[in-house]
Amino acid sequence: MIVAQNLTKVFIQKDGEKLYAVNNLSFTADKGEIVVLLGVNGAGKTTCMRMLSTVLQPTAGTATVEGFDLKNDSQKVRANLGFLSGDTGLYSRLTAREVITYFARLYDVEDAKIKSRIIELADLLDMHDFLDKKIDFLSTGMKQKVSIARSIIHDPPVMIFDEPTAGLDILTAKNIVSFIYKCKKDGKCVLFSTHIMREAERIADRIVMIHEGKILAEGSWDEFKQETGMHDLDDIFIHFVTKTREADNELQ
Ligand SMILES: Nc1ncnc2c1ncn2[C@@H]1O[C@H](COP(=O)(O)OP(=O)(O)OP(=O)(O)O)[C@@H](O)[C@H]1O
Ligand SMILES: [Mg+2]
Repeated sequence: MIVAQNLTKVFIQKDGEKLYAVNNLSFTADKGEIVVLLGVNGAGKTTCMRMLSTVLQPTAGTATVEGFDLKNDSQKVRANLGFLSGDTGLYSRLTAREVITYFARLYDVEDAKIKSRIIELADLLDMHDFLDKKIDFLSTGMKQKVSIARSIIHDPPVMIFDEPTAGLDILTAKNIVSFIYKCKKDGKCVLFSTHIMREAERIADRIVMIHEGKILAEGSWDEFKQETGMHDLDDIFIHFVTKTREADNELQ
């Protein structure tokens, strides 16, 4: 389970101005649940996920992952989560199997278990055809599958996927989404980011809409539709952006 409490990240820009990339974000994601962070480019999705996975230190606020605090128990946090980031590096001269094995060892997975886990993931992500090919020779979709496999090789209870289907064709994207459903069915807690409204609608149990680092709305599409009386997903998103802007202007 993830519990984020007032997570905030401030970047100091070149001109000395503060940029609130993530601003007082509080939300939860339970086990057996897919929570989608939905927001446009620059909304703060990646920054939020990087803090949760201990890559970045929050400026303020904190979060727990499986009850472990980001700051006080960062090693346990890392052991309990898998993080697929957009820029997950892969070693081009190794094969897919070698890359995944390398990361499994970093996570202290036993050798006997590594083999069976790679087979299990290759079954689910349809990776058998290219497991023994060098990363250099793989397509974008194949590389993304290797990145997913390496990020969760240690079978963590919490999985954080930053735009896992970005730039992929519909078949590959569908395979990855099916895989994520399977993770949810197995009781995993999944945090998934996207800027695609339709994808969020399809996959989410709950949506956390974020914009300029802040939460706009939280709930299911059905709840959003009821609340706004609107049906078009884009219109609903824009409605919440406008509403929050108006509220902010009134405060100023
Ligand atoms: N390391 C950094 N230093 C300075 N500013 C940063 C840094 N990382 C992110 N930002 C800024 O923080 C804001 C949020 O960026 P972030 O990458 O979290 O957004 P995002 O929602 O993931 O966007 P996208 O959909 O484009 O991936 C942006 O304005 C970005 O320029
Ligand atoms: Mg991002």
